[in-house]
Amino acid sequence: MADIDLQAVHDTLVSVAFEAGRMILAANPSSISTDTKLNAVDIVTETDQAVERMVSSRLRDAYPSFAFVGEETYQAGVTRITDAPTFIVDPIDGTTNFVHSFPNACISLGLAVDRQPAVGVVYNPFQDLLFTGIRGRGSYMQRNASLEAGKGLGEKVKLPLGGANPPALGDLSSALVSIEWGSQRDGENFEVKARTFRKLAAARENGGAMVGGMRSLGSAALNLCACAAGQLDVYWEGGCYAWDVAAGWCILNEAGGRMVSGNPGIWDTELDSRVYLAVRGARSGLKELVEEFWKVIGDGKMDYKH
Ligand code: IPD
Repeated sequence: MADIDLQAVHDTLVSVAFEAGRMILAANPSSISTDTKLNAVDIVTETDQAVERMVSSRLRDAYPSFAFVGEETYQAGVTRITDAPTFIVDPIDGTTNFVHSFPNACISLGLAVDRQPAVGVVYNPFQDLLFTGIRGRGSYMQRNASLEAGKGLGEKVKLPLGGANPPALGDLSSALVSIEWGSQRDGENFEVKARTFRKLAAARENGGAMVGGMRSLGSAALNLCACAAGQLDVYWEGGCYAWDVAAGWCILNEAGGRMVSGNPGIWDTELDSRVYLAVRGARSGLKELVEEFWKVIGDGKMDYKH
């Protein structure tokens, strides 16, 4: 890690993100061609593919010795994330939102070194909203991020938004929780999710956690950024991939948040574990909230193939 100029990687990723953003905004979701992968709700569009081609070519030119893992070129059972410096890229995270013109989608660009998130850049072109993080150097949010200084460029605000001493976390009854159904809608993984969602929502007198609120916003990367910002307290998902979380994970870590396993009892989870529980930074209560969430899952366990 020591000999990689992470700031230079960050700057390259930001410029690639803006270029990708222009491509995404130029596409007309009502006329682009759409295909499916695992099933009818696992969508890919020609824009996802075109953006990934542009990103991989730009990153291979800039960093020819780094590995590249992208959602649209990933081969199940073959593609692996190794210890090598690796760009981990989702050209459009929130593709379903994108095809519906629902403005919660982004490009997610991460660099992992030794399989640990080292740089993260997440850019939502619909809101011109940029989140960035560099390991050991903090994470930031910027509005009107692609504009020039003096022409509306927002200031870079350090995360979390509440400042260096973010509010304590209470129990789940006061938490704003983000959950996602994902694309697998059958089997034990689906049952664990459905049972957990129900228990999270249910009244306490009926054995539930009665969470303050549940949201399903359709982009793992933006969910993680919202946790980093302190806008969401918790995000839980099984089934998404390293490219959905690599960049946001770095941004979350740098904002004092924590990623653990989405399966109970595992505090240190892997980048490609496919089961994640993220909690915002807080002056206290993080460990207790993770344990309360795991208790809601109970003896449920999600298991996804690689
Ligand atoms: C999806 C989104 C969604 C999550 C899915 C992901 P994609 O990514 O992040 O929120 O629930 O698990 O696959 O397919 O839009 O890149």
